[in-house]
Amino acid sequence: MDRVRIGVVGAGGIAQVEHVPNLLRLPALFDLKGVCDPSRTARDFIAGRYGIAVFESIDQLLEQPLDAILVASPDALHKEHVLAGLGHGLHVFCEKPLCYGAADIAELAAARDAAGCVLQVGYMKRFDPSYEAALASLPGSSKTLRHISVEVSDPDAWPFVRHHEWQRGQDIPTQLIDEVAAKQRHQVQRAVGLSLDPLSYRGFCGAYASAIVHDVNAVHGLLDALHIPEGQVVGAQLYAGGDGGHGSVRLLDGQALWTMTHLTVPQLPYYSERISLIFDDAALELEFPSPYLNHQATRLTIRTGDGHKLHSRDINSGYAEAFVEELKGFWSAIRESAPVRNTAEQAARDMTLLCGLAHWHAAHTTPAKTGALS
Ligand SMILES: NC(=O)c1ccc[n+]([C@@H]2O[C@H](COP(=O)([O-])OP(=O)(O)OC[C@H]3O[C@@H](n4cnc5c(N)ncnc54)[C@H](O)[C@@H]3O)[C@@H](O)[C@H]2O)c1
Repeated sequence: MDRVRIGVVGAGGIAQVEHVPNLLRLPALFDLKGVCDPSRTARDFIAGRYGIAVFESIDQLLEQPLDAILVASPDALHKEHVLAGLGHGLHVFCEKPLCYGAADIAELAAARDAAGCVLQVGYMKRFDPSYEAALASLPGSSKTLRHISVEVSDPDAWPFVRHHEWQRGQDIPTQLIDEVAAKQRHQVQRAVGLSLDPLSYRGFCGAYASAIVHDVNAVHGLLDALHIPEGQVVGAQLYAGGDGGHGSVRLLDGQALWTMTHLTVPQLPYYSERISLIFDDAALELEFPSPYLNHQATRLTIRTGDGHKLHSRDINSGYAEAFVEELKGFWSAIRESAPVRNTAEQAARDMTLLCGLAHWHAAHTTPAKTGALS
């Protein structure tokens, strides 16, 4: 096997709980050369726990002999970190959201093409065996589709990672935090094309761009398999102080509707994430566990009926872990020229829809309730 020499940018929660241990679990595919993070606490944890070389900056990491980087830094730094990797001729795996807007993502796609490298986005659900089985179980036609619903109730990661060994780095200079916040404001404004009020800004960055983006991407994959073209946004709401994000999309000229809601409920350690497709005479339902509960199968239930009898079956496609499978996919794209699953173009489509939802929300919410973001 031709191992890919890889460096990880950002040693926060997702790197410590998933990417670093998962890369180390694939020694035939990856040679983890180092991790960079401005937090000394995070660096010390990685060096002590895994014995891996650590660096304070991405520039120091990029001086190492590498074939690829995995970007797990804060969202607003994805663009510059991906460009830095591609600029060094490296393949890049980047966590979602790749960037907030299609224009920024187009710059990354151009840099990817100039470098002739792989750029893969961290939408691990596309590698979930139950999601793959759902794609294979869809009817051949979209003629009877009526409704797609996405419903997520999410306490955030804490109940599912507190038993892991990990260490949050909170010793980052305030100036660095302020710089990232300023970059985020600039990128969101460029993406959405509007100055969002504080609630909408929080909801766009969190409920939409950080959370429901996974489901938007997953549904886009299902729509592609059904040959359903882009729909029109017909409703959106950012609510609950920005903890909630909702959207409605009209499909097939009104033959079907896609509704989606993500709500963060931090006091309730219960995770529920369901994607359902309702056809005239059938229903397909995916129920995902918290992503951090590795190797727990996603439930796929298919129901069919003839008006009187209901046939219901659960399809278990195994316990392969999506966070691990996406890394195998990245390796295959680099070493075997396998098609990239989760491209920049797909990310652009996801973010364009989410920006459209933010627009709809802003256009239908009175300024008195929202105020302007200073
Ligand atoms: N695929 C998923 O399900 C999933 C889950 C969680 C997070 N994520 C994504 O992963 C990314 C990281 O999220 P997280 O939860 O680990 O956040 P986090 O805040 O825990 O970690 C971010 C890390 O980046 C570091 N950092 C800050 N500036 C940096 C710089 N200039 N260079 C390198 N590192 C820098 C911070 O010190 C911190 O350790 C985000 O983009 C997030 O959306 C994806």
